[in-house]
Amino acid sequence: MQNVKGTHDLLPEEASSFESIENLLKKVASLFAYKEVRTPVIEPSELFIRGVGNSSDVVRKEMYTFLDKADRSISLRPEFTAGIIRMLVNNKTYATEELPLKYYYVGPVFRYDRPQLGRYRQFNQFGVESVGNNSYFNDVEVIMMAYSMLITLGLTNVKLKINSIGDDASRNNYRQALKDYFAPHIEHMCEDCKQRYELNPLRILDCKVEEDIKIAENAPIVSEYLSKESEERFNNILALLTEYEIPYEVDPYLVRGLDYYSETVFEFHYVSSNGNNYGAIGGGGHYHKLVKELGGPDLPGIGFSFGVERLYNVLKDDNLLPEDEDKVFIYIMPMGLAARKYALSLASDLRMSGYITDYCFDDCKLSSMFKRAEKKQAKYALIIGDNEVNNEKVVIKDLNKQEQIEVPAAEVVDFFDKLADTEE
Ligand code: HAM
Repeated sequence: MQNVKGTHDLLPEEASSFESIENLLKKVASLFAYKEVRTPVIEPSELFIRGVGNSSDVVRKEMYTFLDKADRSISLRPEFTAGIIRMLVNNKTYATEELPLKYYYVGPVFRYDRPQLGRYRQFNQFGVESVGNNSYFNDVEVIMMAYSMLITLGLTNVKLKINSIGDDASRNNYRQALKDYFAPHIEHMCEDCKQRYELNPLRILDCKVEEDIKIAENAPIVSEYLSKESEERFNNILALLTEYEIPYEVDPYLVRGLDYYSETVFEFHYVSSNGNNYGAIGGGGHYHKLVKELGGPDLPGIGFSFGVERLYNVLKDDNLLPEDEDKVFIYIMPMGLAARKYALSLASDLRMSGYITDYCFDDCKLSSMFKRAEKKQAKYALIIGDNEVNNEKVVIKDLNKQEQIEVPAAEVVDFFDKLADTEE
């Protein structure tokens, strides 16, 4: 039996790397005073049609949608933002908590996309949403947080692409300019672009068909259609990024694929040293109508999401994966039945004191137990034979230094506690 196309298993080492990556991201999010929230994987399809928008590829082509047993249309979430906003509207957290609401999240999302390098049908996102403050400083803080996360992971060579798609008036003018520009070409462009032309001509700029890309190369750029306020906001943001030494590149054609964006939009790109390019490792932007659209008050928001698989891929390519946090620390090697019984209670004491402890259940030779300890990459071996049971002692062997000492059984936990203190 094969796994579903576009999905992937995580074996222990990979699962551990994913956890370490997510833990580092969570750590940075909490340093920026963000709190974790969790929302359901299934949502009413209507949430994404209204929230993400039906001119986006994500909603038009990529949603996993089905009818439940009561004939309700349900979708697996293709992204988090709409669900997070639904959550804060349903729970009215905007009325009870201080604004901006600062939330982070991590978990699986689903898109029926064409599987290829860095593109899956089930993948994980880690992201944040800040809702209820319209200061451009908030935009800068959010971008700064994303950047700090990437630096914390060790990804120093990241390219931040940024653009402003302006307020409603700017975008209406720009849409019209794009319609005028594409009008003489649209007949020869792909079927998707023909639909995009009608629904939202901004989407044409995301087209991946080579001939269409060539046509789009000379399309007007949004900066020429920004209102005075939007232009000023964008310039203020760029000035602060420069001041805080966050390198960026203005990409005049960056419009992002989801319909809720306004003003600032951005993406992070990274090419591994072996040349692999998995696409954007993260992206986000400002939105100002989403909360209202989903039944809440008129509050703006800004957020971003990273693709955890893509972070994992680039970190792996560049040998930057975080160390496994959960390696076996102590491997107990009991010789004989009495020692095995004794070992189980010792293992329990060590585990309750916070040491990752494993032990050999089988009646095997000491040499084969050492091989097992080595395979598990244990740091210490605890050797217990009849002699040790009778004298209530154990032998502790440092497997790196190959040195061993005898310690009273009652002092084993103490021994490792002292060791941990000296290592700190
Ligand atoms: P997005 O750009 O659609 O934005 O997705 C965010 C990230 O998810 C991408 O940059 C990429 O790393 C990853 N990703 C997207 N599709 C795939 C795929 N098929 N396989 C693997 N990774 C993928 C959003 O989802 C917005 N909700 C971000 C946001 C938050 N905007 C405001 N707040």
